[in-house]
Amino acid sequence: MCRLCAGPVRQWVDLGRQPASNAFLRPEQLDSETFFRLAVGICADCTMVQQLEAMPTGSMFRADYPYRSSTSSGLRRHFQDVARTLRATELAGPGDLVVEIGSNDGVLLRALHADGVRHLGIDPSAEAAAAAAADGANVRVGFFDEQSAAAIAATEGRAKVIFSANTISHVARIDTIFRGVDLLLAADGAFIFEDRYVSDIVEFGYFDQIYDEHFYLFAVRSVAAMVARFGFELVDAQRIPIHGGSLRYTVTRRGARERRASVARLLDEEARYGVAEYETYLRFGRQIDRVGSDLVALLTDLRDAGRRVVGYGATSKSATVTNYFGIGPALVPFICDTTPEKQGRLSPGAHIPVRPYEAFAEPYPDYALLFAWNHAAEIMAKEHRFVAQGGRWILYVPHVRIV
Ligand code: TMP
Ligand code: ZN
Repeated sequence: MCRLCAGPVRQWVDLGRQPASNAFLRPEQLDSETFFRLAVGICADCTMVQQLEAMPTGSMFRADYPYRSSTSSGLRRHFQDVARTLRATELAGPGDLVVEIGSNDGVLLRALHADGVRHLGIDPSAEAAAAAAADGANVRVGFFDEQSAAAIAATEGRAKVIFSANTISHVARIDTIFRGVDLLLAADGAFIFEDRYVSDIVEFGYFDQIYDEHFYLFAVRSVAAMVARFGFELVDAQRIPIHGGSLRYTVTRRGARERRASVARLLDEEARYGVAEYETYLRFGRQIDRVGSDLVALLTDLRDAGRRVVGYGATSKSATVTNYFGIGPALVPFICDTTPEKQGRLSPGAHIPVRPYEAFAEPYPDYALLFAWNHAAEIMAKEHRFVAQGGRWILYVPHVRIV
């Protein structure tokens, strides 16, 4: 049953038993993993793409949640841009408040703080929030919902902007978010959020964007229907080149602003592409299984030929790839990653060791399986020496290939 409209949800893929994608384990935690069934469907009524079962929120977003937005120079630049855009388009002066839902290590808050913008971040990950606070940003530890929104409104007043990147789709009970936004947002304020675009995920074969945290996969059509249920209106949607293809949605109180032409244009594109059609997703599901058999065959051949393969980027996406296709340390002996919080741990479910990124060059492997394909440009530029001395990248979206 659809979490938004109670309509029937038709399943189009079952990616099997999966762990919490960011639950990187210390060796002594091997027995305490939480798993769920990662199956995805589309609502026949409101067209929202969603998981059929939800990983418990407490298993996903713990105090020691290890993801850090600031590790990518591309993301740092992106959020500096967001800060500039908000100042130019939404904020009248330094007194206007920006609240960020899911502020992680403060990659956006730092930029707002540097510009003298009144801001407050809220995030359930105490360690990430502490990193933001250490840089001078204002943060509260917790989930955004009616209670925390009311508490923020009571001490800080209404927010001119509520911003969120790659967070609200994580919340199965998304009504709690919208009720909070309703309590906190100024009458003429904007709720602006960014998230991966399901249309790009399907078109470009980014199947590993499906993991526990991405409970909903948004499209313009489904988001417009969703926000309308809570008394809001989608007034703008813009493509942004983040995580392989995302959209930035601008939502206001109903009737507060005119809807921009971008919304109708994207709705048209979606209709032509079939983003609301069950068949579109069934085809996509078949493509995932082809990638799996090709990738396992390639890794097995390389191992049998005595080649060394290393994983690059211990992404949350890689949980789906390794656990659904059954890729463990026998095929990929370790994954290197720049995030200190992940190093020395085992990847969730598949239990592949995560090592510091320096381990990549000690010595270079023959092949690197690029799990962090969304940072390909940044990583390939940085690792030119790997290729210069004969190394090759293995990519698997939209299909398996060596470059
Ligand atoms: P993401 O795809 O969810 O943004 O995660 C990217 C992961 O890849 C994250 O754990 C950091 C890691 N990473 C590297 O190890 N080296 C890099 O150069 C970049 C950009 C990311
Ligand atoms: Zn629905």
